[in-house]
Amino acid sequence: MALRHFLTLRDLTPNELTQLVERAIVLKKEHKQGKIYEPLKNRVLGMIFEKSSTRTRVSFESGMAQFGGSAIFLSPRDTQLGRGEPIEDSARVLSRMVDAVMIRTFEHEKVEQFARYSNVPVINALTDDYHPCQLLADMQTYHEQKGSISGKRVTWVGDGNNMCNSFINAARQFDFELIVASPLGYDPMTSLLEENKSRVRIIRDPKAAVQGADLVVTDVWASMGQEDEQQQRIRAFKDYQVNPELMSRANSNALFMHCLPAHRGEEVSEDMLDQPGSVVWDEAENRLHAQKALLEFLLCNA
Ligand code: CP
Ligand code: NVA
Repeated sequence: MALRHFLTLRDLTPNELTQLVERAIVLKKEHKQGKIYEPLKNRVLGMIFEKSSTRTRVSFESGMAQFGGSAIFLSPRDTQLGRGEPIEDSARVLSRMVDAVMIRTFEHEKVEQFARYSNVPVINALTDDYHPCQLLADMQTYHEQKGSISGKRVTWVGDGNNMCNSFINAARQFDFELIVASPLGYDPMTSLLEENKSRVRIIRDPKAAVQGADLVVTDVWASMGQEDEQQQRIRAFKDYQVNPELMSRANSNALFMHCLPAHRGEEVSEDMLDQPGSVVWDEAENRLHAQKALLEFLLCNA
């Protein structure tokens, strides 16, 4: 297979994505049975983190260890990237030493630039615009709970951020309808809305937006890098909290997802994460299994 990157969900075909989700479910089952499977023995993943992380770092690092390989954590504080070494030089150097690179950064263009100069697969582990690895785990979680998401209705409540943009891509690739309930001024990427208008639309009122939803999703009101806007965002999003009352307007068996970390009392009520229908802990766990399926896809089919 030619060199493949995973910068957005659009880098894999719908068929490849479905197979990957199914593979993640198998890998999860086998891992829980104690099966040793080490397809990445002696292989190394470089992990560049320019923003904080708990789930992403631990799931990639554990996944590589379980696959018989290893991972190197790289932060701008202690690499030359933080002192201004050009991305293209870093890409050329690192990709001569490691077998894949995972990047969490600000501008999406940075991961694109890195990928252009890399000889090994590059994985987007969150940019200001997209978070595709989270969507792999979310699609796996939905599939485990309810089967195929094709033809279902998903409602996004809150900020039109990187997660929301990725849900738009998921609607396209996994064939579902997406309703976005965001306050005016906080919409997802305009070009994405335009390109996907046959299946994605905005309904500003969250109560109306969740009607008929099979899945309700939210995320923090201020993402990493937007800390200065926190107070202004709390005011703009005050009517956009997901709580049991809002969930009661969705379909009776609707699921609730949040990529975490969550701010209880803001985008979710204190009790929301532990309500029946909330699958947030499974979503977090599935980062491990979905990314193992991704690493296997990118590195073992080569
Ligand atoms: N959901 C997610 O990506 O979490 P972290 O920021 O902890 O990696
Ligand atoms: N939208 C959030 C997601 C964190 C996993 C952020 O970018 O901070």
